[in-house]
Amino acid sequence: MTTQIKDLEHYKTMYDESVKDPEGFWKKEAETFTWFKPFDKVCEWDFQGPNIKWFLNGKTNISYNCLDRHLATRADQTAIIWEPNDPSFPARHISYKELHEEVCKCANGLKFIGVEKGDRVVFYMPMVAELAIGVLACARIGAIHSVVFAGFSAQALADRVDDASAKVIICSDYNRRGAKNISVKTVVDDAMDKSCNSVEKVIVQKNTGGHVDWSDDTDIWWHDLVEEQSAECEAEEMDSEDMLFILYTSGSTGKPKGVVHTIGGYMTYTCFSFKNVFQYKEGDIYWCTADIGWITGHSYIVYGPLLAGATTMMFEGVPTFPDAGRFWSICEKHKVNQFYTAPTAIRALMAKGDDWPAKYDLSSIKVLGSVGEPINEEAWHWYDKHIGKGNAPIIDTWWQTETGGIMITPLPGITDTKPTYASYPMPGIQPVLVDSDGNVLEGNDIEGLLCIKYPWPSMIRTTYGDHERCKNVYFSAFKDMYFTGDGARKDNEGRIRVIGRVDDVINVSGHRMGTAEVENAINEHPNVVESAVVGYPHDIKGQGIYAYVITQNKDLDDTFKKEILDVVRREIGPIAKPDKIQFVSGLPKTRSGKIMRRILRKIASKDAENLGDISTLLNPDCVEDLKAGALV
Ligand code: PRX
Repeated sequence: MTTQIKDLEHYKTMYDESVKDPEGFWKKEAETFTWFKPFDKVCEWDFQGPNIKWFLNGKTNISYNCLDRHLATRADQTAIIWEPNDPSFPARHISYKELHEEVCKCANGLKFIGVEKGDRVVFYMPMVAELAIGVLACARIGAIHSVVFAGFSAQALADRVDDASAKVIICSDYNRRGAKNISVKTVVDDAMDKSCNSVEKVIVQKNTGGHVDWSDDTDIWWHDLVEEQSAECEAEEMDSEDMLFILYTSGSTGKPKGVVHTIGGYMTYTCFSFKNVFQYKEGDIYWCTADIGWITGHSYIVYGPLLAGATTMMFEGVPTFPDAGRFWSICEKHKVNQFYTAPTAIRALMAKGDDWPAKYDLSSIKVLGSVGEPINEEAWHWYDKHIGKGNAPIIDTWWQTETGGIMITPLPGITDTKPTYASYPMPGIQPVLVDSDGNVLEGNDIEGLLCIKYPWPSMIRTTYGDHERCKNVYFSAFKDMYFTGDGARKDNEGRIRVIGRVDDVINVSGHRMGTAEVENAINEHPNVVESAVVGYPHDIKGQGIYAYVITQNKDLDDTFKKEILDVVRREIGPIAKPDKIQFVSGLPKTRSGKIMRRILRKIASKDAENLGDISTLLNPDCVEDLKAGALV
């Protein structure tokens, strides 16, 4: 097992060691896993290529390390607790032995329909146990999984399937969300109608048993395919640098990009970080409320916890069903020890009042985690007081899809915590703040752009099918550094606070979105001439979406607004719908024709008095109109 940090002294020595001798440090951690053939070199890298390799020539299998490796010692221990959307349904407790069997059966099913090592399999499923099983089954046979969040539209799904040229899609019939059953299969059918030419089979997991349209050529029921398969399936021998998964995420420009993670480094870092960041102890019940459609679910519902032999919970439902006490009732019911959620959920539940958590016994909780966006002071204190009762340290964990694992965080019971500060780098992580010219800012009490100056095992290797894009986005801004896209500050004692994105990426309810993506969707409406999208502070969502739209439409009424929202829903999904739409006659542009988003952001954020110098604009006159019509 990877090392577990015991106390502050231990953290400090480990951190120093990891900087002085990174290779020696990670060699020791990686060697705690089962390798079918040992690696012969720890790391090879240059950030120019970029060319990043960890545990070179080592052969392993991450599903073997998540499952088989534990069978001798914890076969009957619960690996996954699955808590259903409807609290009157029974929870499922899946032991390591059962999970191993289910994964083997699914892996054999995938092989049966012709899935081979290196093939891409897209998942479009709600939070059912079969999602975790399917992902691990892919890893077992060396197929590359790409999970698409089930809230995305058919178009967004089709874009991802096409980019990955996936051979198979695995979906459910319906998604149970609160009081509603949402059709999933019809979205896949729509995507298949649009494109998805590479797809040979669609595997459908029966969740509600509701009606689905069926194509005998492509569709196959999960149970028909999987149930009769053998529960033995040898884990494929994989190279450490073989692709494990592709996960699409938004950037400043263009379509979402497929972030690629590879096996050996991701395995080492997710296990190491899980054990340390949550201070997971034998027998603990750990719950991360994320969806497996995002990186948090990949690393800290599935891989990290299972690699560490933990009991991890998967929740099918939503925080407010049947009422706003659901999270806390689940914590009481399963005696959750580590609870990990997003600030947006905390704020939404905080708004429902203190009585909800007060009804439940939350004394089992030892650690409270936060992820996905900056947590504001008010939410931090509410979380501390009403959920942790002042006894559970809050770990504000900063990381990204691209980093694969948690990078900056307090360690509970080991380091101190400070509201809104992610605080300290994990061992092996070397963050720096730089100015806009890339000069490293030394000392404390500084503010700058957050970069990482040395590779770590679970870092992005490439963007699928477009290595140049990976280089341009992350490695070209500053020489020899990985640029995160975030701005950060250091307090006078060196703790880091991540302030937020400095690029055109916004973070809405913890969902990452590119403003260009939303603009492209809005522009699909035939009567939209041009649009510009910015984020603005939102009490619950963290950031809301504010769209400025130029149109030829005469009727600027709610029907037209609704049409725009429908286009966005169709192109991306409901999570990308603008909260505010302001119709404008012009957008502020520089002489080279670039939209001055700084001005738009300020107007949307009720900060229109401090626009700075606008005299260099091509069309300064439009600014007064924008201010006059602002929806603030
Ligand atoms: O801006 C940072 C913000 O979320 C971005 C990464 O989003 P994504 O790839 O979707 O991954 C989210 C889950 C790991 C970052 O660039 N972010 C994430 N965690 C924090 C955060 N901002 C401030 N504090 C955090 N703890």
